[in-house]
Amino acid sequence: MRPETIAIHAGQSVDPASGAIATPICLSTTFERAGDGSFSSGFEYGRDNNPNRRSLETCLAVLEGGASAITFASGMAAICAAIESLPSDKPQRLVLPDDMYFGIRSLIDETDIGRRFAWTAIDMTDLAAVEAACSEPTGLVWIETPSNPLIKVADIVAVAKIARQSGALVAVDNTWATPLLQKPLELGADIVVHSLTKYVGGHSDVMIGAVVVKADGAQAESLRAIQKHKGSIPSPFDCWLALRGLQTLPARMRVHCENAREIAQYLAGHARIDAIYYPGLPSDPGHAIASRQMRDFGGMLAFVVKGGHAEAMQVAANLRLITRATSLGGTHTLIEHRASVEGPNTMAPEGLLRLSVGLEHHDDLIADLTCALDSLG
Ligand SMILES: Cc1ncc(COP(=O)(O)O)c(C=O)c1O
Repeated sequence: MRPETIAIHAGQSVDPASGAIATPICLSTTFERAGDGSFSSGFEYGRDNNPNRRSLETCLAVLEGGASAITFASGMAAICAAIESLPSDKPQRLVLPDDMYFGIRSLIDETDIGRRFAWTAIDMTDLAAVEAACSEPTGLVWIETPSNPLIKVADIVAVAKIARQSGALVAVDNTWATPLLQKPLELGADIVVHSLTKYVGGHSDVMIGAVVVKADGAQAESLRAIQKHKGSIPSPFDCWLALRGLQTLPARMRVHCENAREIAQYLAGHARIDAIYYPGLPSDPGHAIASRQMRDFGGMLAFVVKGGHAEAMQVAANLRLITRATSLGGTHTLIEHRASVEGPNTMAPEGLLRLSVGLEHHDDLIADLTCALDSLG
């Protein structure tokens, strides 16, 4: 079946009790035990599992081509669980991308994860750097592609090959591409991580995350144990929202991609722009790899305004339709000056603005950008 069909049917069926087409939300935290002590429904207690969580996990696992999905209360909770579930027989050392979601850097700097795991950060698009980093005992290689905020494209097949030769596992944060555009498990990854808060939720109204494993086994069991015993679970309503988001994800992704392409082409020729980062442009260094490993180029792009900090801030301040806000993947186009958000360790140039291109009409978005760029004189 095609992803468009899977997204609407996997893990979902007409409710046998009511005939409801839309999956009902099951808020019960506890489920009846039969006289013989068994749980005929398969559910026992809400922290262990719940019908809405099961539906979402089933649908996501099928879409990613994984054995199972394990959901958490946020993308960061999923990332934390993915790292903590690294089997103890693997070296407790992580090879991370230097350009990665800033929250992972904070997780390492500000929680015990940084003390429990050795780590190094490298340019994941430089295969020689990946080889050098993996020449030391490594447990997990972390790929984020396209990356945040520089929209760099890492070659999943090539990095996974190097990691495998060194005995390391490979995790891919697939939040930006989504399973509609990129299937990391088919390209050599062992696990996929998601902030479902972004494109899957799709409407900026739910926080939720997931890890999808290629094969069931020790790591999957460990992830389930973290979910159940550490208790960082998504609510039934969060799962319901994310599952509803999955149903429309294929249709929404088409518009995100089309809008981003139009805006990138417009910005690429603009006199006030120094650089544009978007793998859909043939001039982009990630274009060839992205064309191979992605079905389309996604809805994220970044551009560097000529001048620097003040000019970028002026452009952002003069937008009327595009909203100044963090996060991505929703209906509304959002813009963010990443250097201000990330602070001194940022990879983002001072003139860089990151755009999460939403679902408005691209002509209106381009008109808004034109006015804001014209304000520079
Ligand atoms: C690529 C990526 N991964 C993970 C996260 C964290 O997700 P959450 O905010 O749901 O915890 C984000 C958040 O922006 C992200 O952009």
